[in-house]
Amino acid sequence: MDLIQFEQWVLKEFGINLSAYKSNQLHRRILSLMSRVGVNTVDEYIALLKKDPNQRQKFLDFITINVTEFFRNPEIFDDLKGKLQSELLPYNKNLKIWSAACSIGAEPYSIAMILDSISPMSRHTILATDIDSTILEKAKKGEYVYSEVKNAKKEYMDKYFKIIGDKYIIDSKIKNMVTFKKHDLILEKYENNFDLIVCRNVVIYFNQDVKNEIYKKFSSSLKKGGLLFVGATESIYNYRDFGFEKASTFIYKKL
Ligand SMILES: C[S@@+](CC[C@H](N)C(=O)[O-])C[C@H]1O[C@@H](n2cnc3c(N)ncnc32)[C@H](O)[C@@H]1O
Repeated sequence: MDLIQFEQWVLKEFGINLSAYKSNQLHRRILSLMSRVGVNTVDEYIALLKKDPNQRQKFLDFITINVTEFFRNPEIFDDLKGKLQSELLPYNKNLKIWSAACSIGAEPYSIAMILDSISPMSRHTILATDIDSTILEKAKKGEYVYSEVKNAKKEYMDKYFKIIGDKYIIDSKIKNMVTFKKHDLILEKYENNFDLIVCRNVVIYFNQDVKNEIYKKFSSSLKKGGLLFVGATESIYNYRDFGFEKASTFIYKKL
C-alpha cells in the first residue's frame, strides 16, 4: 500500500479527508511519525493503528495539530476589538459568532472576554466547532494552565479567571456565551447569518482548492457587512473572488 491508498483507508476508518491537505507536507509528516513509532511500511502502520487505541489517538492528535493559546497574536486581537467596536456593534447589539476549528476553546473564550468587556449588557452567541471531539471535551471544561493563558491581559485575567493551584478556570458567564459542537470544515454544511467568523491556523494545512471552497462557504455564511478573521500567516490574496474587501491585514469584510 502507498500513501495515497493510506489516505483512502484513513477516510474510511476515521472519516478524515487527508486529500484536502497539502500533500508533500502531509506525506513528509506521516513518514516522520511512522519512523518515530518504529514502523517501516504503510501496511505495518495500518496494522498498528487497527490494534492499538493509543496509537490511533496519537495519529489523530498528530493530524489535527491542536496547538493554541488565549489571545494568540495579542496585537491582532486588539485590532479585532477595534473592528467589533467600529464595524459590528454600532449596527447590531447581539452578535452571532462562529469560531471554526476552535481547538481547546482558547479562541472562542478570548472573543467572549473581549465582547463582555466592551458590551456587557448584550447577549452574544458564540458557536465554537472543531473536528476533534476529545479536545472539545477539554474546551467545555474550561480549565487551563499558565502557558495557555499567558497572553491574557491583566484586566481579563483578574475578571474572567479563577486560579486554583496551577489551574486557570474560566468564569461561568464567559463559558455560557459559548456553545461547542463537533464539525468538519471540509465535509459538513455551514450555518448561516454570522456577524463574525473566526478561523485561524487550520486552513494553512489545506490545499488551495480546499481553501477556496472554505472561503466561499464562509462568505455565504456571513451576513452582509460581516467579518472574517484569519490567522497571522493566512492572508487571503484572492479575497475579492469571495466577495470580501480588506478591513485590515487579517480581517475581511463581506460586501
Ligand atoms: C492549530 S489549531 C488552531 C486553533 C485556534 N483556531 C488557534 O488559532 O489558536 C487547528 C485546529 O483545527 C482543527 N481541525 C483540523 N482539521 C479540521 C477540519 N477539517 N474541520 C474542523 N476542524 C479541524 C484541529 O482539530 C485543531 O484543533
